[in-house]
Amino acid sequence: MINVAVLGYGTIGAGVVRVLQTNVESIARNAGQTLVVKRILDLREFPGDPNADLVVHDYNIIKEDEDIQIVVECMGGLNPAYPFVKTALEQGRSVATSNKELVAKYGAELIAIARENNCNFLFEASVGGGIPLIRPLTTCLTADVIEEITGILNGTTNYMLTKMSEEGLPFDDVLKEAQEKGYAELHPEADVEGYDACRKIAILTSLVSGYQVDFEDIHTEGITGITAEDFLYARAMRSAIKLLAKSWKKGGKYYAMVAPMLIEHDHPLYSVRDVFNAVFVHGNMVDDIMFYGKGAGELPTASAVVSDVIESARAMGTNRRIFWSPEKLVLQSLRKCEGRFFVRMEKTVSREAIEEAFGPVDYVVAEGLDEHAFATRTMTEGDFHRAAAGLGHVIRMIRIYQKY
Ligand code: HSE
Repeated sequence: MINVAVLGYGTIGAGVVRVLQTNVESIARNAGQTLVVKRILDLREFPGDPNADLVVHDYNIIKEDEDIQIVVECMGGLNPAYPFVKTALEQGRSVATSNKELVAKYGAELIAIARENNCNFLFEASVGGGIPLIRPLTTCLTADVIEEITGILNGTTNYMLTKMSEEGLPFDDVLKEAQEKGYAELHPEADVEGYDACRKIAILTSLVSGYQVDFEDIHTEGITGITAEDFLYARAMRSAIKLLAKSWKKGGKYYAMVAPMLIEHDHPLYSVRDVFNAVFVHGNMVDDIMFYGKGAGELPTASAVVSDVIESARAMGTNRRIFWSPEKLVLQSLRKCEGRFFVRMEKTVSREAIEEAFGPVDYVVAEGLDEHAFATRTMTEGDFHRAAAGLGHVIRMIRIYQKY
């Protein structure tokens, strides 16, 4: 029998307990032993909850309980998650976490501590919720050099964009719905401003490059500026607007960004709706792969956390190697990256002036809107921003996704 402590009894922590207590037999078969939830750490009381008697408020009770072998961290945030996880690993206890903030910031360090202490720091649920993604990337795809990752990595914003586009619902209403469904972060600006997706692409890029990608270095734009008019143009272009997190390797250098992008109807990411996430990966040997599943929510995320608990049980006393050096990976500036840009511009600017600034463009028409809208041909980010700043009157720019 293996005893598990769960830190945090919120949406994901409660889901983890539920999964462990529901699929008892199949989990025991897969783990080779029965897994039992012995303690739950939370500051709150849970009167009437069937596990109320397992709840403790002091981490030291868990720390000093020598019968606990695996710790699950679902508290979120860095403090006190980081010191608690670090202590558990130093005690030789494996840790499974869904905490992307923690993994993005301290992943390299916590992996190294786990290695020194013959235990494991596993974080399958930190990116893509229930989608098996981290383990395939760190095991099945290790023969490849990964040249591109493009992901819909935030369930909340994908849910919101789907509802806004298909049902014409306002931003605030769909955000509220996503919160009610347990998809959104405690502070939803982490979702809508792209910070959550940014941390997730930083984690994935660290894993495929083997070096530390600092999320602060990634150019990040959220979806707060997207309006109903933008969806009209997207439809006219047979495209969808998706918050994409992407990183790519070109000429031996890495690039990364998070931004809303227009993705055309023939790309597999186009039809990823609702709370689903998908991650498109291009390896230099395996070619294109896509991972797809529910990217947020109690049980999908808990399923991924519990798979890490089972993996930790199987690996008890040994360390599963994950290569993630603390050495920093310097991301390249986007200014020289080439792409196409969709632009909405006020009518005061003439078509001649537009074409003089941007070169030949493809105009897009959406009924009832009295403005210019066009897609540029391929140009660098630097040239685009220079031309746009020179001309002014830009209502919106949305990048058009393309493979790098
Ligand atoms: N708020 C996150 C999302 C939760 O919506 O994707 C899962 O990481």
